Amino acid sequence: MRRADARRREGDGVTTPRANDEYLLGHDEAEQRRLRGQDEVWAAETESFMDRLGLSEGKRVLEIGCGIGLGLPRLGRRVGVGGRVVGFERNHEYLAASRRLIRDQGLEQAEIFSGDIERDVLPEGPFDAIYSRWVFSYLPDVEAVLRRLRPLLATGGRIGLLDYNHDGIRVFPEAPRFDEVIAAVRRWFAIDGGNCWVAGVLPLNFVNSGYRVLGVHPFVQAGPPDSPVYRWVEDFLFVQAPHMIGAGVLSEAQWAAFVEEWERMRGAAGTILYSPMQVGVLAQAR
Ligand SMILES: C[S@@+](CC[C@H](N)C(=O)[O-])C[C@H]1O[C@@H](n2cnc3c(N)ncnc32)[C@H](O)[C@@H]1O
Repeated sequence: MRRADARRREGDGVTTPRANDEYLLGHDEAEQRRLRGQDEVWAAETESFMDRLGLSEGKRVLEIGCGIGLGLPRLGRRVGVGGRVVGFERNHEYLAASRRLIRDQGLEQAEIFSGDIERDVLPEGPFDAIYSRWVFSYLPDVEAVLRRLRPLLATGGRIGLLDYNHDGIRVFPEAPRFDEVIAAVRRWFAIDGGNCWVAGVLPLNFVNSGYRVLGVHPFVQAGPPDSPVYRWVEDFLFVQAPHMIGAGVLSEAQWAAFVEEWERMRGAAGTILYSPMQVGVLAQAR
């Protein structure tokens, strides 16, 4: 078993194997709550990037790794009731949440497909756009997936991937324990074959997989301890720390030192956090 295939649950000290449909961050209640909060923090940037997908009334759009379905209403609004929105997701709990969401919101133009983007049968195209957010940083072979997606695009269709270029994340005044925990996050992504700088190499991945790049759109936020972006980073670290400790990329002592530093920073005047870069990369099949 690879090290990253084991997750130690908070408090119980028991290491359990990861199910096949689980990705690095897991799918428990705390993670689902974190995804909803995260969606609110990055709503404006997400909308602005979606505006570049070329969607309008009646178009067809596929979302890869739709998670609990938060992007589907945004896409549904753009294509209207005469359009087609397809969510594709691997995890069974998230599939159920996505299905509930489209039912509760009356998104009749939406449907959800189950599968692993790396190996399973894909929904039938063509699609005028393919969209994905925070999924490609977890994929070990991005180009293989891009090559699988290419035939699904309609002529002139666009693909837009919003993901991390993990540079830029810092707290000021300088916070060395924070930097240590961020280094652990990066190691954690890597041991599972992911790349938290994926957005930096997506243009090359697109070119190598038969696309031409139409644009690269970076987004950054900054804020003090009571800001949404500060709480977003805090939430990620506190939800995921037990899993990082379980995976062996962070020690209990490092975490304890960080928590002490974090409390101090929260109360200090002038503390400011910068987010990592989020980058939307837009491409078209060649
Ligand atoms: C960080 S979440 C992002 C969810 C959603 N895109 C959002 O913006 O809220 C990553 C999602 O990608 C899904 N995922 C990861 N690897 C996948 C794969 N190989 N095939 C399909 N879905 C995958 C996970 O199950 C999870 O729902």
